[in-house]
Amino acid sequence: MVNIAVLVSGRGSNLQSIIDNIEKGYLKARIAVVISDVGSAYALERARNHSIETIFVDPKKFSSRESYEEEVVKVLKDHDVQLVLLAGYMRIIGKTLLLKYKNQILNIHPALLPAFPGLHAQKQAFDHGVKVAGCTVHFVDDKLDGGPIILQRCVEVKENDTAESLANRILEQEHKIYPEAVKLVIENRLRIEGRKVKIIN
Ligand code: GRF
Repeated sequence: MVNIAVLVSGRGSNLQSIIDNIEKGYLKARIAVVISDVGSAYALERARNHSIETIFVDPKKFSSRESYEEEVVKVLKDHDVQLVLLAGYMRIIGKTLLLKYKNQILNIHPALLPAFPGLHAQKQAFDHGVKVAGCTVHFVDDKLDGGPIILQRCVEVKENDTAESLANRILEQEHKIYPEAVKLVIENRLRIEGRKVKIIN
């Protein structure tokens, strides 16, 4: 059974979809720990509601990203974690985590990368006037929202959309493709070849 850690900072709806997919048997994995850099994150409550261990690693207690991540790595090792899922985690991942968990960290981003990396991606896309938006699950590397892409899903922009209504429809798709991508990883069905991620049937 693969031990997963989910890193969160906020409302945790993607965490919830991973939890739900484990509970209904779609994902053969367990969440060993949920780590947050925000003590009041609602995601922590969601985890506790399912008796999942939560740990708040307070960034204020660390003088650098490196020392912060060393603590996160310690928690991950203590929980025998093999796969790390970023789910609305608002910190940039640095060398310390990347080296220890090479190709074992996934992120979900609410845009069709490489378009609209960074914050407020749905609004960036909406304001740009795109006709098709969407979301991406990718491996995390040292570039912001830049690692090899595992899955993407399109969402059409409607004439009467607002940035918010569009973001809500993108979120529905996020909740589908993140578990799908996690399933591919835990079933060892992905091969990274340069920028490309091959899916093996
Ligand atoms: C999602 O839109 C995700 O794509 C982005 O941050 C948001 C997190 O939402 N990385 P939630 O905390 O999972 O509800």
